[in-house]
Amino acid sequence: MSDPLIVRALRGEPVERTPIWMMRQAGRYLPEYREVRSRHSFLEVCKRPELAAEVTLQPLRRFAFDAAILFSDILIPVEAMGAPVEFGDGGPHFRSPIRSREQVNALRVPEPAESMPFVAEAVRTLVRELPAGIPLLGFAGAPFTLLTYLVEGGGSKDFAETKRFLTHEPEAATTLLDKLARTVAKSLEAQIRAGCCAVQLFDTWASVLSPADYERYALPYARAVFTHLAALRVPRLYYVNGIAGILERAAETGADALSVDWRIGLADVRARAPRLAVQGNLDPHWLLAPEPVLRERVRDVLHSNGGRLGHVFNLGHGIFPSAPVEAVQWMVDEVRRFEPRR
Ligand code: CP3
Repeated sequence: MSDPLIVRALRGEPVERTPIWMMRQAGRYLPEYREVRSRHSFLEVCKRPELAAEVTLQPLRRFAFDAAILFSDILIPVEAMGAPVEFGDGGPHFRSPIRSREQVNALRVPEPAESMPFVAEAVRTLVRELPAGIPLLGFAGAPFTLLTYLVEGGGSKDFAETKRFLTHEPEAATTLLDKLARTVAKSLEAQIRAGCCAVQLFDTWASVLSPADYERYALPYARAVFTHLAALRVPRLYYVNGIAGILERAAETGADALSVDWRIGLADVRARAPRLAVQGNLDPHWLLAPEPVLRERVRDVLHSNGGRLGHVFNLGHGIFPSAPVEAVQWMVDEVRRFEPRR
């Protein structure tokens, strides 16, 4: 059997049409997701394979996406390292942010089969239950982005604690990044061995670093993760929100494809990273626009790829909970209708 459409696109092979999936495609914009969440906490959904599989499948029942993405969170492996996380209305929260060498030393590099067996079990369930030809994507947070959550104790606007930690505790920071890289590499390897056909590494906040600091604190650790996965021969995607200032460097992580936000045009991405496939990059705000505007913006993205091989359509960041469900249908419809000219 030939490889799934999205895998061929990520390898830059000829495809009959542009594949599409959507970051956060299972989530609060869907009433059926909110219904599950009214009965179970977020962490419960992540940790019970039958619930994780159910919400992963929900968007596929409505929309003709070309891939499913495992329902989980980038902070699940971090919790398995020994840093308990809570998810409230304000997003993730660590009760004891990691800010000292002693705390870093106390964190372990967990074996996925022992400390997160529910992840591989959800993957195996999904591989059985997904419609034929629809592959499952795995994912993890990149070491630098995970460090920001651990050190800040949650989300942040200015990343002040992160930058304090990097400068005041440089050795602890390096040790932490190294432990995170090994944890993430093992987690992604386990997801691939359980049946994921491609993986995305989320380095959402790497763009808060200067290019020189990106080369110190983010690039080497993302590269270590991708190097670990090279022999498994599945496409590896790398996402940074606000990638424009570090794009050539991001291309040096060893990723097969860059997943890009909307602040850069796809023609620029192609010119600056000519050997990589590209994923993106509709501004998620346009899902809240009137239908004709949304359809036009979707076509703009498709045209901006200029007919090159190796494009996967996606948003430039996750869908908002306030996005109307119909808008997703209009977006999928417009991508399906598009005929690449070459
Ligand atoms: O894309 C998918 O549909 C797969 C599932 C997925 C989730 N989180 C589920 C989730 C993925 C790939 C993620 C990645 C993730 N998680 C990232 C990187 C991508 C990005 O958005 O930049 C980050 C930074 C996190 C950490 C995280 N988890 C935050 C900041 C939040 C709170 C913000 C929010 O949307 O509520 C979460 C919670 C979270 N992760 C939810 C979902 C569906 C919402 C939880 C709920 O149901 O209440």
